[in-house]
Amino acid sequence: MKNIVLVGFMGTGKSAVGELLAKRLKRPFVDLDRQIERQTGRSVPQIFAEQGEEAFRKLEAQAVQKITAESSQVIATGGGVLLNDSNVEALKRNGLVICLTARPEIISKRTLASLPSRPLLNGPNPKDRVEELLTLRAPFYAKADKTIDTSDRSIREVVEEILEWIPEKR
Ligand code: S3P
Repeated sequence: MKNIVLVGFMGTGKSAVGELLAKRLKRPFVDLDRQIERQTGRSVPQIFAEQGEEAFRKLEAQAVQKITAESSQVIATGGGVLLNDSNVEALKRNGLVICLTARPEIISKRTLASLPSRPLLNGPNPKDRVEELLTLRAPFYAKADKTIDTSDRSIREVVEEILEWIPEKR
């Protein structure tokens, strides 16, 4: 069976939705950022601080190639994974790609508590940065097979919508 791949901006619920979805489907759950952290022995903010974003993107691309060698998983990715065309191709080859979205103000609220661990938002004006990045990334997120707005929905509701959609696509 194909992988179910969750993509989308920070704070849209990928990890929480992925974990519950994997339980419901009785499939292994893989969080790509946690995978990178395990493999490098460094946290994502540490990698950004010590080696920069470009180095992180290389590690991310390697992790994508590795994980897409397997199927029947639920995979939560980092918010920038679709910026790289090879990642898009690899994830789509044996996966259904679902983009979770949320309104900018909801994203800002959800990410507020975890700003120190989000190097791309951890500047002087995180709210403006969220809006700026969302605009820049819209064409990349549009490559997903399905999009779900999580702004006014619980994790369970989002999971139900995905479960209803999957059989049509399998
Ligand atoms: C990033 C999102 C983060 C993490 C890294 C870069 C991005 O993951 O991969 O900080 O470019 O949007 P989450 O979306 O899980 O926070």
